[in-house]
Amino acid sequence: MPGAVAWPAGYALLGFDEIDSTNEEARRRAAAGVTMPLWITAACQTAGRGRRGRAWDSASGNLFATLLLRPERPAGDCAQLSFAAALAVSDMLAGFAPSADLKLKWPNDVLASGRKLAGILLESESRADGKAAWLAVGIGVNLALYPEDTEFPATALSALGATPPRPRDALLHLAAAFAKWYEAWRAGGFTPVREAWLARASGIGSRIRVRLANEETVGVFQGIDDSGALLLGLSGGTTRIIAAGEVFFG
Ligand code: BTN
Repeated sequence: MPGAVAWPAGYALLGFDEIDSTNEEARRRAAAGVTMPLWITAACQTAGRGRRGRAWDSASGNLFATLLLRPERPAGDCAQLSFAAALAVSDMLAGFAPSADLKLKWPNDVLASGRKLAGILLESESRADGKAAWLAVGIGVNLALYPEDTEFPATALSALGATPPRPRDALLHLAAAFAKWYEAWRAGGFTPVREAWLARASGIGSRIRVRLANEETVGVFQGIDDSGALLLGLSGGTTRIIAAGEVFFG
């Protein structure tokens, strides 16, 4: 078990037994003009959503949480917070499973021994001045359960030999860790987040396959640039900059 931490000052918390999606609730609360930052969590979701239009398995036992923020930064820069969120999730997981082989997968998954342990879904709305009116950082962490039928293999803390924490304990440590990375980002921009993310990234220097909207491409994972885009070294010696896609190893 990790040491005691305090709930981060200034962050509100809203908990549900069941909800459609904590990201959807964040969208509703933002439209209603709620004060931010606000964490929203639920014991289970009936319409949990993942990236690329996929559903997110949301039975009780795992952590489902969304942080609703108003970062007062250009909407494009806010995407960098998905890397901060991945760092916070891996900090939290390392506290509960110190011997797990935790790595980060571009753009924002958390892996344990090469299997997906957590996923992050960012949603936002822009204002006329280009800043984000709100940003929802949705986080799903497989504490007790994981789906068996996913294209990219999944796992859960319970399958790693760790005693899974109660979702509310996981959220406390996640919220504290995120507040730290959010402050690092606000004070130092993407640089400290990018450096920490690269130090924990999976597959740097190895061959990867990247699925884009209409094609797949292969190359060497060289790292990420200062916007968070993936740098893929191609056979001709050029580097392709990829803003959005899905990575497969091996
Ligand atoms: C992914 O596809 O990897 C992202 C998964 C994000 C799931 C979380 S669970 C809490 C929040 N509410 C949702 O409906 N989705 C996110």
